[in-house]
Amino acid sequence: MIKVEHLSRTYGTRVALSDVSFSVARGEVLGFLGPNGAGKTTTMRILTGYLPPSAGRVEVAGFDVVRQSVEARRRLGYLPESIPLYPEMSIRDYLDFMAKLKGVNAKARPEQVARAMEQTRVHERANQLIGKLSKGFRQRVGLAQALLGNPDVLILDEPTVGLDPKQIIEARNLIKGLGGEHTVILSTHILPEVSMTCSRVVIINDGRIVAVDTPEALTARLRGSESVQLEVRGPREQVLARLRKVPHVLSAQANRDGDGRTIYTVACKLGSDARESLAEAVVGSGWGLLELRSVSLSLEEIFLKLTTSEEAVRA
Ligand SMILES: Nc1ncnc2c1ncn2[C@@H]1O[C@H](COP(=O)(O)OP(=O)(O)OP(=O)(O)O)[C@@H](O)[C@H]1O
Ligand SMILES: [Mg+2]
Repeated sequence: MIKVEHLSRTYGTRVALSDVSFSVARGEVLGFLGPNGAGKTTTMRILTGYLPPSAGRVEVAGFDVVRQSVEARRRLGYLPESIPLYPEMSIRDYLDFMAKLKGVNAKARPEQVARAMEQTRVHERANQLIGKLSKGFRQRVGLAQALLGNPDVLILDEPTVGLDPKQIIEARNLIKGLGGEHTVILSTHILPEVSMTCSRVVIINDGRIVAVDTPEALTARLRGSESVQLEVRGPREQVLARLRKVPHVLSAQANRDGDGRTIYTVACKLGSDARESLAEAVVGSGWGLLELRSVSLSLEEIFLKLTTSEEAVRA
C-alpha cells in the first residue's frame, strides 16, 4: 500500500533523512519510533506530498506522491504535528469545510462528518468553537479531520500528544481499530505505545532507519527479560529471598533503603507478567507493599543499545 524507496531529504546542508526505505502492507499499523529530530515529521510530510524529497520516491496506493500527487492525496488522511485549525469555526463547520476540500460531495458530507465526530468522541461538542477547546479536544478534531472521506491510508504524526491518560487509551484503541480497513503509519516517542497499537515498527535515528521489526521481536531483542520495581516495607534480606522464589523471577536486587522501606528491582522472564505473584508473595508474608510497577526501557536506552554494538543488542 505504501512503498518508500531510498528517500533522502536535506535542509540546506543539514541531512534530515538519508536513504530511508520501507514498505507497509494493506491494513497494517506501522509505528514510526524515534527521538526528537530523528526525521519522523520530515518522512510523513514527504509521504503526504507536502514536502518534496531530495532523492528517492514514495508510492501510496500505487501512485507516486510527487508525480501523481492529486491521486495519492485523495487516498490519504493526515494528522500533522501542528494542526491548522480555525478558532472561529465550530467543530462541525470545520469538519464540513475540510470534507468539502477533500472532495466529499455535499450529500455524503453530513454523514461523514457525524461518523468522524463519533469515532473521535467529539460529537457532543459539535457546535462548540474550536478556539475554545482544550488541547486534547483539538487533537481529536485533528484526528476526525484525518478520517474524513474514509481514506485508505492514514498518516498520524504523534496522535496522542497532548491527550490525558484516559484519552490516550481511547485514542490507542481507536487507532488499533483502524487497522485492517485502513493502512496506518503513526509516529511516536513512546515504545509502549507502539507495542499497544502497531503490528510493525520502524526505528529511526538521525535520519536513518536502525531497525524494522514487530514490537514483540524488537522488545525481545532489546531485553531478554522484563523488570518490575517494588517498594516494600519489611526485612530486606527476607524480602529478597522471598522474591527470588516467585515463579519466573530471574533475579532480584535491593536498590535503595530508607524508613524501613526498600525499593527492589526484579527481573522476570519475558512475557511472564509476574506482577500478581510478586504482590501475593509480599502481602502473603505480612509485609507492606507500597508500590509495584513494570519498568520498561526508555527510548534512550533502546537507542543506546541499537547504536552501540551488536553484542549489546543481544545481551
Ligand atoms: N524546515 C526545516 N528547515 C531546516 N531544518 C529542518 C526543517 N524541518 C526539520 N528540520 C531538521 O530536520 C531534522 C528532522 O526533523 P523532523 O521534524 O523530521 O524530526 P522528528 O523526528 O519529527 O522530531 P520530533 O520528535 O521533535 O517531532 C531535524 O534535525 C530538524 O532540525
Ligand atoms: Mg516531528
